[in-house]
Amino acid sequence: MISASLATVAYIGATILFIMSLGGLSHPESSRRGNLFGIIGMTLAVLATIFGPRVTPAGYAWIIGAMAVGATIGLYAARVVRMTQMPELVALMHSLVGLAAVLVGFANYIDPAAAGQFTGAEKTIHEIEIYLGVLIGAVTFSGSIIAFGKLSGKISGKPVLLPGRHVMNLAGLLVVIGCGGAFINADTVAEGMTPLIVMTGIALLFGIHMVMAIGGADMPVVVSMLNSYSGWAAAATGFMLSNDLLIVTGALVGSSGAILSYIMCRAMNRKFLAVIAGGFGTEGGKPAAKGGAAPAGEVTPISAVETAELLREAKRVIIVPGYGMAVAQAQHTVYEITKFLRERGIDVRFGIHPVAGRMPGHMNVLLAEARVPYDIVFEMDELNADFPDTDVAMVIGANDIVNPAAQDDPTSPIAGMPLLAVWKAKPSIVMKRSMASGYAGVDNPLFYKDNNRMLFGDAKKMLDEVLVALKS
Ligand code: TAP
Repeated sequence: MISASLATVAYIGATILFIMSLGGLSHPESSRRGNLFGIIGMTLAVLATIFGPRVTPAGYAWIIGAMAVGATIGLYAARVVRMTQMPELVALMHSLVGLAAVLVGFANYIDPAAAGQFTGAEKTIHEIEIYLGVLIGAVTFSGSIIAFGKLSGKISGKPVLLPGRHVMNLAGLLVVIGCGGAFINADTVAEGMTPLIVMTGIALLFGIHMVMAIGGADMPVVVSMLNSYSGWAAAATGFMLSNDLLIVTGALVGSSGAILSYIMCRAMNRKFLAVIAGGFGTEGGKPAAKGGAAPAGEVTPISAVETAELLREAKRVIIVPGYGMAVAQAQHTVYEITKFLRERGIDVRFGIHPVAGRMPGHMNVLLAEARVPYDIVFEMDELNADFPDTDVAMVIGANDIVNPAAQDDPTSPIAGMPLLAVWKAKPSIVMKRSMASGYAGVDNPLFYKDNNRMLFGDAKKMLDEVLVALKS
């Protein structure tokens, strides 16, 4: 057992480590160190809590049991989950934070020891904390479950727009406010339980409704927004339990998630409120012919050997990776090809779109894993103007992020989204398995452009063939 003041010192230490962790994670080069700070901070926080003054020895058996179950599930998930399933796993984790906030809220409300601590204004503040914590937790829980379903393809990416949905949301909000009044004015726990349960039900439905109404193309914003909600849910839990560390950690996650949502909105050229109101995006991951617009012309295929010839003759090459590179796990071969070309004096750079793949920084993580040097990896805005001077733009398993319909067709579900202008290169080569559309389910006019070539096949397999041809 440690004293309350030592626990507070440990909490301050953990908070500083979390802030240093976030700082480290802001750049690929320092991200490993950032991760390490986070791990040390979390270990310190867990130990200070377990051995802190608020846990009695009788509670140890429960804590050890819960940690054993959690650690077993965590270890198993970390081993079996593939890199491409990471975003779904993260969505599922967010849902657990939400569920924890709901359960802690209810437990706190019915716990006579917790209730007896407060009187007068303090009691009202405590009840507001419980009410808000359960509200945010329930929205996060059900919203994240639906996001998990959409990201894993178990639920269609198509937005579900109920008639009169804004009126329904407004009515729900009014009932939630009304229930809040009844909850705070309730004289007994039994009396307050009904409004609390009604509000929880409405919040759960609202979470489902909110994410169901958002189309495939806008999922990046939803993922980061739920990340933010899970932080606020944790902060609310911290208030309920009077745990300063949980409040600070929750606020860090909540605010960094909010900043990320803003960045994602900017990357998609969307207004945050417009995304939340829902309705963007269409069917996800269906072949273009079924997904909406019919294929608009003939494509020009290219072989791996011809691709290798173009690369060998080029002076400047830009590689644009997308979700397909993650699916094919082609990053290591991409690195081999990059190394080969650079050794022959060819300028190779990578162009990363902010929403490439299925989670923020997805492509950066894969390229870092394959040891692609950071100084040749650029953000979209940094090299977009260079495509006209580029001899080959190689698109590896990307689709939506290089779809000119976003700028040419105002009716497109991805209209307005900034793009990597690969079609301005001479030529662009798109590597993918078929003519299927990307996540947003939109046909891609790039494929039919005169200066575009299609290298059909699994990205890893085709790049292996390109590498063999380059070396031969
Ligand atoms: P997508 O538009 O989803 O296109 C990926 C393409 O990769 C598909 O068209 C697919 O075509 C191809 N592909 C799949 N497996 C492949 C393989 N083994 N080998 C070669 N190609 C393969 O990806 P993107 O261009 O990266 O755009 C990202 C999309 O995801 C955006 O719409 C974005 O809004 C959305 N999204 C992003 C996030 C974040 S935060 N990044 C989160 C959720 C959603 P084939 O089937 O023909 O091979």
